[in-house]
Amino acid sequence: MYEGKIVFNKKEAKNIYLLGIEIPKNILKKFQPGQFLKIKINQRMDPLIPRPFTIHAIEENIVYILYQIVGKGTKSLSKLRKGEVLEFLGPLGKPFPKLKNYIICAGGIGIAGFGFLLQKSANKRNFYPPETIFYGARTKEELARLSFLKRFGIPVKISTDDGSKGYRGFVTDMVEEELKQTPRTVLACGPKSMLKRVAEIGKKYKVKTYLVMETFLACGTGFCMGCVIPLKRGKYAHLCIDGPTFLAEEIALESLS
Ligand SMILES: Cc1cc2nc3c(=O)[nH]c(=O)nc-3n(C[C@H](O)[C@H](O)[C@H](O)COP(=O)(O)OP(=O)(O)OC[C@H]3O[C@@H](n4cnc5c(N)ncnc54)[C@H](O)[C@@H]3O)c2cc1C
Ligand code: FES
Repeated sequence: MYEGKIVFNKKEAKNIYLLGIEIPKNILKKFQPGQFLKIKINQRMDPLIPRPFTIHAIEENIVYILYQIVGKGTKSLSKLRKGEVLEFLGPLGKPFPKLKNYIICAGGIGIAGFGFLLQKSANKRNFYPPETIFYGARTKEELARLSFLKRFGIPVKISTDDGSKGYRGFVTDMVEEELKQTPRTVLACGPKSMLKRVAEIGKKYKVKTYLVMETFLACGTGFCMGCVIPLKRGKYAHLCIDGPTFLAEEIALESLS
């Protein structure tokens, strides 16, 4: 495990925090968009297992994590202050595939991993930028990092379930409308219900669809089988080493709860 010092940990939107951890540059330079870290939230026993978080962005020698409070680990994380030290493992998982002519579909905290992709694709060297970002949340209070996302000059189309900002309805409605006009690859991250819908839409318009999956993680290194993703024809993959990004057509989405 490595150690990093917290440089900020601030509220960003409703139940969503932005954490900055100072990390030596020689470790940071290994990080790629789509990968994640397992963060040990405190030195006490509870929560014992480090929690996984996508790399949201990197600036100088600071890694940014965008996280939502859902349980005891993330609640404890939100209480940590500048100067405290965190232990983490990573980078883990495979980077995003190198796509061209694609759009992003993000639901809720699913936006977290795309900040680093936007940063890394700005020079079009290793990664290409998306053509449009579709980003949905339940209400405008739950939208995070909008001004950061808009910095890259890529259209950011917003939806909220209650219509408090942008299109009223699900982000997948906007994505379907887009694919109807211009079919192209989709890279999606968000709740399982959203991912299932994106997969259906991708199939309907015959476009390559990549889903960034989530499961519970334990070891994070391929040993414990704690992160199995069911694939078609009875096969399976480990999210921690084969993922977290998978081609939708390979996943047995019907067996995901
Ligand atoms: C590869 C990966 C990257 C992730 N990146 C981010 C990120 O960038 N930002 C972010 O906010 N979250 C991210 N998550 C989810 C995050 O890890 C969990 O929300 C966190 O571990 C919850 O810890 P907790 O102790 O607060 O909640 P717990 O007390 O452990 O659980 C609270 C509730 O959340 C549910 N839950 C917890 N973890 C998961 C999970 N992995 N899948 C489905 N339901 C779950 C539990 O069933 C329970 O209902 C990621 C998960 C994975 C696997
Ligand atoms: S978390 Fe242990 S094998 Fe993936």
